[in-house]
Amino acid sequence: MIQVNTHILSASQFTRANLEALFDLANQMIPYAKAERITSVLQGALLANLFFEPSTRTRLSFSAAFSRLGGRVIETTDKQSTSLTKGESLRDTARVVSGYADIIVLRHFQAGAALQFAEASRVPVINAGDGANEHPTQGLLDIYTLQKELHAKNKSLNGLRLALVGDLKHSRTAHSLLKLLTLFVDIHFTLISPSTLQLPNDLVESIEEAGHTVTIAEQLLPHISEVDAIYMTRMQEERFPHPQEAQQYRGRFQLNRNFYQRHCQPDTIILHPLPRDSRTEAQELNEDLDEHVNLAIFRQTDNGLLIRMALFCALFGVTDRVERFTHPVPWRSE
Ligand code: NCD
Repeated sequence: MIQVNTHILSASQFTRANLEALFDLANQMIPYAKAERITSVLQGALLANLFFEPSTRTRLSFSAAFSRLGGRVIETTDKQSTSLTKGESLRDTARVVSGYADIIVLRHFQAGAALQFAEASRVPVINAGDGANEHPTQGLLDIYTLQKELHAKNKSLNGLRLALVGDLKHSRTAHSLLKLLTLFVDIHFTLISPSTLQLPNDLVESIEEAGHTVTIAEQLLPHISEVDAIYMTRMQEERFPHPQEAQQYRGRFQLNRNFYQRHCQPDTIILHPLPRDSRTEAQELNEDLDEHVNLAIFRQTDNGLLIRMALFCALFGVTDRVERFTHPVPWRSE
């Protein structure tokens, strides 16, 4: 299992054994996540949720996960309202906040910020996205979801054929997911992006060094017809030096029901870390697929809660105490 009291900064910290233990624990979290059972195993613990970039699901799911385990949450939601605008260093902020809380979740716009923050923090730090670098907990929930979806189709992560589509240069969720997937065997990755937005070279090399195969392409067809799963990503407008530059790529890849039915295998799983860009000119993942049985995006978000609860239990070393601190749910009718 993941070591107690450790920082979670990169997906490369994880082993196959870690993942298996974490996924088992995530499965045990289901009744607590749905509030069919209540546990107070983290009663008295405080999470500082520090978000210096926009977020909906990551921030709320970390907060919900900690609260569902009986802990409490303090938070900031943007840079403007903090002393970072007064020139305070990340180190000082880390040192200060780690005196208030027992664990910190950090989202920051600079690659490497989580590491810098962790070095000055006296409590564990979880990286909830640092610039275009990594987003390890999203990678964990993505691979957890992918494994479940594949299992339901009698397939497994070993031997997977996966297409990653979109802005692979800036997509930190794709970076973390790929690092986790290299732990498995014999995966074929098809990396579909404009040539200027390709996956960073060091990542491509590490995939190949781990014994997997890679195809690099700039178009969906014909590659999209040969995969078990598609991981769509948004053009990460905010990471371009000039946001106007992103405009030329908007709408480059569009997956909709008609396209899917014509070109994809009927059991191809569709994933997206969200948010998807639903503006008319973008629409990398059309809402007309929302009722499709293979669209896993809302199962990803549900699973995010389970993974984050499991991670908190592991980091606090309370995995075998969750059950003992279970209470009846007073607001549910008997
Ligand atoms: C992603 C992120 O912030 O990196 N969102 C998320 O956390 N689920 C992806 C994105 O913003 O496109």
